[in-house]
Amino acid sequence: MSEHNLNLGRTQFGDVANDGRLMTMEDAHGLLKEWVSNEKLQLHMKQVAALMKAWAFEKESSDEATSHAWELAGLLHDADWEKYPDTHCKMIIEELERRKIDPVVIHCIASHGPKYFGVEPESMMDKMIYVFDELSGFIHAASLIRPTGYEGMDVKSVLKKLKTLSFAAQVNREDITDAIGRIDQSLEEIIQFILDHQKNVQ
Ligand SMILES: [Fe+2]
Repeated sequence: MSEHNLNLGRTQFGDVANDGRLMTMEDAHGLLKEWVSNEKLQLHMKQVAALMKAWAFEKESSDEATSHAWELAGLLHDADWEKYPDTHCKMIIEELERRKIDPVVIHCIASHGPKYFGVEPESMMDKMIYVFDELSGFIHAASLIRPTGYEGMDVKSVLKKLKTLSFAAQVNREDITDAIGRIDQSLEEIIQFILDHQKNVQ
């Protein structure tokens, strides 16, 4: 989620001296619980975290530490959305800077909505959080109106729903097109990847 128009006014995040400094998933989940009471929002972040981790492992052949960084960015990208709706993104960025977290993770979180935060996705990690954010939520919304949930849900039905602008109208289709345009994979491939990897996230 990134519907607020809060230009961060900067494109450098964190301190290179903190390269490779991550937090444990236990600490990240602790922060999430402290800042987010809305279970739907928690689930959204857990889903994006699972997608980021799976993508790093499967598509980027990342090692354990890099996949952990991808997962962390996914899990915390909307952590300040509920508590600080007017300054969403700024607060979690500052919190992670205070905690001396790897700038790669912070830049990734800052680039999950280029139109809103004024930060262009640069790395593949940045580009994928932007790709997954809206689409993950959209696909989850689509699963909720199906009697069988994710079971039997296919790419075709998701594409059809995307064209139905009245469905999940808050999901900006232009952002999805823009995000997909920045990577080499097709929309169909990404939808399939999301269907395969987020259905069991709880
Ligand atoms: Fe999000």
